[in-house]
Amino acid sequence: MHLLITGGAGFIGSHVIRHFVTTYPDYTITNLDKLTYAGNLENLRDVEGHPNYRFVKSDITDSAAMLVLFEKERFDGVIHLAAESHVDRSIASPTEFVMTNVLGTVNLLNAARALWKEDFNGKLFYHVSTDEVYGALGKEGVFTETTSYDPHSPYSASKASSDHFVRAYHDTYGMPVVISNCSNNYGPYQFPEKLIPLFINNIRNNKPLPVYGRGENVRDWLWVVDHAQAIDVICHKGRRGETYNIGGRNEWKNIDLIRLLCRIMDRKLQRQEGESESLIEYVTDRAGHDFRYAIDSSKLQKELGWIPSLQFEEGLEKTVDWYLANQEWLDNVTSGVYKSYYRKMYG
Ligand code: NAD
Ligand code: TYD
Repeated sequence: MHLLITGGAGFIGSHVIRHFVTTYPDYTITNLDKLTYAGNLENLRDVEGHPNYRFVKSDITDSAAMLVLFEKERFDGVIHLAAESHVDRSIASPTEFVMTNVLGTVNLLNAARALWKEDFNGKLFYHVSTDEVYGALGKEGVFTETTSYDPHSPYSASKASSDHFVRAYHDTYGMPVVISNCSNNYGPYQFPEKLIPLFINNIRNNKPLPVYGRGENVRDWLWVVDHAQAIDVICHKGRRGETYNIGGRNEWKNIDLIRLLCRIMDRKLQRQEGESESLIEYVTDRAGHDFRYAIDSSKLQKELGWIPSLQFEEGLEKTVDWYLANQEWLDNVTSGVYKSYYRKMYG
């Protein structure tokens, strides 16, 4: 089995690579990544020496390069995670999201189709997507696999579009595809532009914590290793042509999560109670800010037997411990280009 995993140097991708390389020593795992600001091979230092792991630096928007690579490597399956993934960046520069998330996905579908021709036996194109394609919920309700798509940000619109293309290749050409839509992930190796690592890093450096709006928005958080585990189960047992929602039924109002994080940080850094919380600053809300996400993953749980492993409080504590123990990683990824991004976004 030769598996191509795209975006393997990013946050979730690095956990998926680690999981597959160590769980399936008889598979060959090729990681294709462009190494954008969000991709970092340091995320994979512990697996890079494994004999079944290879890395290819390439760009999924380069259709010719994708055709050549597939022809040469003759992949049996693709797990596609490479994407531009941050909503705030998509608001600032939407076109890049169309290029990578939409065109990049179509290029991979074309390369897989060209290689596999009509012989799809034992093949799989697995597209990793987000719950954000379903739009925003009010105070009640949950997203299921049959919820209509209603994306609001350029990021979620580009992911929705890529999902539609993947389904279209299934319906039109018989491509064996599977799609999963997951809720917000947290854990080690997440780039510190996303809420949890950004706030851990700011607390560490005594910088303001920019809470959008009143902090009333709700997100449904999943431990990233549980996501990687779900991807394994869906890859091996998921019915082709199907969609599976992934989430841990773990909803938190942003401000409640931030206060919990502040308390953990005070304790870890031996600061006075309330010291981290005093860094909170309410700032202008994100444009088009989705109010609430909540995902129903009962299809995945009932059909394929997946269950999340970790309670949020325990996971958040582990996450904080990891960032504090890996300050060099944080310092490396927040140097240079990150600084100008931060100035542009937060002043
Ligand atoms: P990330 O931004 O941390 O990583 C993305 C990776 O893709 C990086 O390594 C980057 O270098 C690579 N990449 C970007 N453009 C590329 C290109 N043109 N060619 C090749 N590689 C390219 O993202 P993440 O948070 O790990 O998300 C991974 C996937 O999971 C994405 O498809 C995202 O939509 C989806 N997802 C993320 C979350 C979340 O909470 N982070 C939740 C659900 C789904
Ligand atoms: P984020 O981690 O960007 O994930 P997403 O937008 O994909 O859900 O943001 C999580 C929540 O935290 C979201 O409601 C926006 C909010 N947020 C802030 O309040 N301040 C910030 O600086 C960031 C990055 C996010």
